[in-house]
Amino acid sequence: MLPSWYSEYKQKIEDSIKKYLDNYFLENKNEVLDDFKESIYYSVAWWKRIRSILALEFYLLFSNKTLVDLDLESKDEIHDIIKFCIALELLHSYSLVHDDLPAMDNDSFRRWELTTWKKYWEASWVLIWDLLNSLAFEILWELKDQIIWLKLIKKFWTSVWLYGMIWGQVLDLYYEKNNKDLSLEKLVEVHNKKTGALIEFSVFWWILLSGFKWNIDKYLEFWKKIWLAFQVKDDLLDVEWTKEETWKSVWWEQKWFVHFIWLEKTKEYLNELSNSCLNIISNMKSKKLEFLVWYIRDRKK
Ligand code: IPE
Ligand code: IPE
Ligand code: MG
Ligand code: MG
Repeated sequence: MLPSWYSEYKQKIEDSIKKYLDNYFLENKNEVLDDFKESIYYSVAWWKRIRSILALEFYLLFSNKTLVDLDLESKDEIHDIIKFCIALELLHSYSLVHDDLPAMDNDSFRRWELTTWKKYWEASWVLIWDLLNSLAFEILWELKDQIIWLKLIKKFWTSVWLYGMIWGQVLDLYYEKNNKDLSLEKLVEVHNKKTGALIEFSVFWWILLSGFKWNIDKYLEFWKKIWLAFQVKDDLLDVEWTKEETWKSVWWEQKWFVHFIWLEKTKEYLNELSNSCLNIISNMKSKKLEFLVWYIRDRKK
């Protein structure tokens, strides 16, 4: 069972995404757009919101604020950190829409629902990307602190998209066809790039926003490890569930951590990563962050 604070954070993020999209479609009302609009809402309806919840909690912790403060402070306006969380979720969502396409992972189901390309018309798979990418940048553009924005955007384009997610996906697809070339080190590199880079991006954000003065490298280390733990757990879930239950593509087998270090060692590796994350954040005395580490380790989906 998720604790109530997690549900509150998640609700806050989901309400904000919905409000933002509702406004966008209200301003651009046209019944011809209805199907497309539906496919957009469908595509952003993922589950855990783990990236934005981590970013939000780090921000609240370091700025000594609570979720309520964000509402009070900003009145009708959405607070910068929430805008950032919306952008993060939009980016994450559209990366998954493309990831599931026949040309990439060729997955028909995600989270036990049809993937966007299975459910909607062909052009929408391309246009969803275009729209969500543009909207993510539009909302970042609205941030009050424009100096932070400039730094943010540079970091984003270079380490997250250009040399991060896009490279990671290219490597991932390369090793799908050439799995003999893959090693454990290279697998870690693929994960660091294709998904870890987006997480580091959220770290960069809260460091800037909260006027962070701590040992930044130490906390970047936390993010690298927590993200790796997330991916290792993803592999374990794939192995522990049957393919019929997960509907994942067959070739994934060669790219699992389990393939390289076997099941028991993978579990140990996950424990080591989680423990070292807990070690890094121990002096922060945050039960919420500790919960997030356990949640990533013990989650069932
Ligand atoms: C799925 O991400 C893609 C990976 C990076 C493994 P999540 O597991 O965070 O997906 P949702 O957002 O909770 O559905
Ligand atoms: C998804 O990675 C990564 C991105 C969308 C950047 P995977 O292909 O490993 O994740 P799942 O298994 O589809 O969730
Ligand atoms: Mg995939
Ligand atoms: Mg993939």
